[in-house]
Amino acid sequence: MATFRTLDDIEVRGRRVLLRADLNVPVKDGAVTDATRIERLAPTIEALIDRGAKVIVMSHFGRPRGKPDPAFSLQPLIMPLRRAIAGREVAFAADCIGDEAKRVVAALQPGQVALLENLRFHEGEEANSPDFARALAELGEIYVDDAFSAAHRAHASIAALARLLPSAAGKLMEAELKALTAALESPMRPVLALVGGAKVSTKLDLLRFLIGKVDLLAIGGAMANTLLLAEGREVGRSICERDMGESAQQILVLARQRNCRVVLPEDAVVADQLTPGIATRAVAIDAVPSNMMILDIGAETIARIGATLDEARTLVWNGPLGAFETPPFDRGTLAIAKKVGERTQAGKLLSVAGGGDTVAALAAAGVTEELSYVSTAGGAFLEWLEGRELPGVAALSADGPGVGG
Ligand code: 3PG
Ligand code: MG
Repeated sequence: MATFRTLDDIEVRGRRVLLRADLNVPVKDGAVTDATRIERLAPTIEALIDRGAKVIVMSHFGRPRGKPDPAFSLQPLIMPLRRAIAGREVAFAADCIGDEAKRVVAALQPGQVALLENLRFHEGEEANSPDFARALAELGEIYVDDAFSAAHRAHASIAALARLLPSAAGKLMEAELKALTAALESPMRPVLALVGGAKVSTKLDLLRFLIGKVDLLAIGGAMANTLLLAEGREVGRSICERDMGESAQQILVLARQRNCRVVLPEDAVVADQLTPGIATRAVAIDAVPSNMMILDIGAETIARIGATLDEARTLVWNGPLGAFETPPFDRGTLAIAKKVGERTQAGKLLSVAGGGDTVAALAAAGVTEELSYVSTAGGAFLEWLEGRELPGVAALSADGPGVGG
């Protein structure tokens, strides 16, 4: 794993700490619908407060395209943020740089917290502009990055800024990197990757990378249909990418060459429409009717993936295994989620999962707390699984200015 400083390696007492958070949380009608990212950030803020830092929280929110836009203000996040840190006051700066930000920061006492307005209200953020990074750096003395879920963005508050100030990873960033490293860099074997979702085309790099890393690869979701088709199966009216046949075949060949055992569905739950509660049929995978769609993995496949879970010591999971958001096609994913929870709780499996749909599926199965680690990241988790260097992680590992005393 790349080396980086953590909160234990820096002296923050009395200092202004610029904390890059990811407060890009789902909001509906002004209310946060899932506060997980805020809750997972809170321990870092608490640790900084306890150590007497002046904490300046900065984040992006949505995609306002470089201009102030009230629809993307961070103001509605003040209360949720306060709730996550035991009701403490949070000062707010209506701009993340310049005089307004400086005024709010200057008023902070050790142990107090301020939140800066959306970083993406300035073009310089997404452009990774050195000038914008310098304007941010003026506000603080130390940089702490706790935004693993935004680490795939080479933006000013993530990349350029990390090189201007002494930097360290926050507790959430540290936990995310430790979990992913444990799962893919020095794992207990055999390692199983469970990959689902709609399309092979969006996960080609991920599949290629994982095949070189894991011993077992179980594939579900509509992307399995594309692979089944490449193996010469008929998939009826199922969602699949007919033009991806060659790439799908290459994936299967690569897996054989690398001794990675691929588990594809053996049976399926089919229906003629993707409608909640519609009549379904259970069929073997070589008997999918031409007028029907595969919408979930079948009982045999659930058992087969279950047996693979019994064998595996480490699991990486991304993507639901069926049309999860439309019951009853959530059954396969829920059954596997429960099994993953059980194996992990029994001490037999180290399990790491990530991605928006996957996290929703785990929550629906009620097993979020049972896994070894559930990432807060979507895109960044996927890019990590593609073996890519994440700019936010690289910036923390690079030799920036020293930490001083
Ligand atoms: C996310 O939620 O994926 C991160 O906060 C990054 O947001 P973005 O996809 O708008 O860059
Ligand atoms: Mg995203």
